[in-house]
Order: sequence, then C-alpha cells, then structure tokens
Amino acid sequence: MPITTCVFDAYGTLFDVSAAARQAASEDRFPGLADRWAEVANHWRLKQLQYTWLRAVANAHTDFWQVTQNGLDWALEATGLDGDPALRQRLLDLYSELQAYPEVPDMLRALKEAGMQTAILSNGSPAMLDGAVQSAGIGAVLDDVLSVESVGIFKPAASVYQLVEERFACDKSEVLFVSSNGWDAGCATGYGFHTAWVNRASEPVDRLPWTPAHILSDLRPIPDLARAQ
Ligand code: LAC
Repeated sequence: MPITTCVFDAYGTLFDVSAAARQAASEDRFPGLADRWAEVANHWRLKQLQYTWLRAVANAHTDFWQVTQNGLDWALEATGLDGDPALRQRLLDLYSELQAYPEVPDMLRALKEAGMQTAILSNGSPAMLDGAVQSAGIGAVLDDVLSVESVGIFKPAASVYQLVEERFACDKSEVLFVSSNGWDAGCATGYGFHTAWVNRASEPVDRLPWTPAHILSDLRPIPDLARAQ
C-alpha cells in the first residue's frame, strides 16, 4: 500500500534537544557551562531516555516533563554544575521552547502538498509538545500531535505506535515513521511501520531484532521517500 501518513518522533527528530545546553552556554551568566555543555546535553538525553525505559518496564509511569527534570538533575550533578538553581531553571525554560531543525517546515509543507497526513508521535507530555510546536511555528503543517500520555506508557510499547492507526484509521503498511532515535525506528519497524532513521551523528545501528528500513542524515529526503513507497 502507498504511504498515506507520515509520523515523526519529536525530541531529537524535529526538535534539536542539544540546543538548550548550547544556548545556555553562550550566555555570559553561566561560565561553568562553556566547555561542558555537550557533556551536560549528552548525560541529560541519555538519562532522560533510560528513565523512560525503566519506568515502562517497572510499571511506574510518570510524564516526560518529570523524567526530563530527573535526567537534568543527574546530568548537572555528574558534571559538578548542580549548585546553581538559575542554570537548572534556564535549561528547563530553553527545553520548553526548542527550535525545529532548519529543514523541518519545508519538509512538512512538501508532505502536505503531496496529500499526506502528518503527525508527531512522542513521549512528550501534551503541554511540552504544545510549547515546542508553537515555538517552532509548525502547527499548521501537522494534522495532529499524539502523546504517549493517552496510553500511560513510554515508547517503544506497542500501544504507543498503535495510536497512529487509531487516529488516522489507516493500516500500519500506510505509515512512514521517522525518528532520530535508532531504537525507536528499529522498534517501529518491528511493529510493522515503514521506517526512516535520521542518523545525524553517524552512530552505529542499534543491535535489536529489527533495523530501520532507511537511514538518512537529515529530514530533507522524507517527502520523496514517502512518495516512492
Ligand atoms: C520522543 C523522544 C523519544 O519525542 O524523542 O518521543
């Protein structure tokens, strides 16, 4: 079946998650961050994701804003930057208004012009996703923003991916799912979606039972890829 519906992971895929630490590091009031922002960003992202997986396995769900704060607190302590509440607050404020990668608006517009349905499917809480979609100005080129909060478990639980078929009344084989997280793209392949992994950092493929169908270095090829399936 041809692709009718293109669905995107949010954090790291449409929105640049390292932008918060990079931006704060460029501000004069946080000199301690200048040569450590990349370390903070990496720890923050990894802990945030680990906490989602652990909470899913342990049946201890909370929302993504909570694990985002927990991950940040771990990262700040690990880098010795946990003594400045203003830094913590600034990083969280910046995370609430992340910018989209530069190619995102044109890519989504091209999908809409090709008659595709478009959506976000994310671990993010509805309030977080609302803030990010608004600050990136991409609300008009998205048909919906789906949050795991409606099923109360994080990716890669199958009940999360299933939200797409329920919302769009489509078959799995009509969906192109796009993520910058190799594990997310891999697990969505196992679920039955067509998949593309946006591997901006040229990382190795995750060793899972499933591998993404397509590997891209940014989002620009997505409209052609969706039309070609
Ligand atoms: C999301 C995380 C996994 O947006 O990036 O769901």
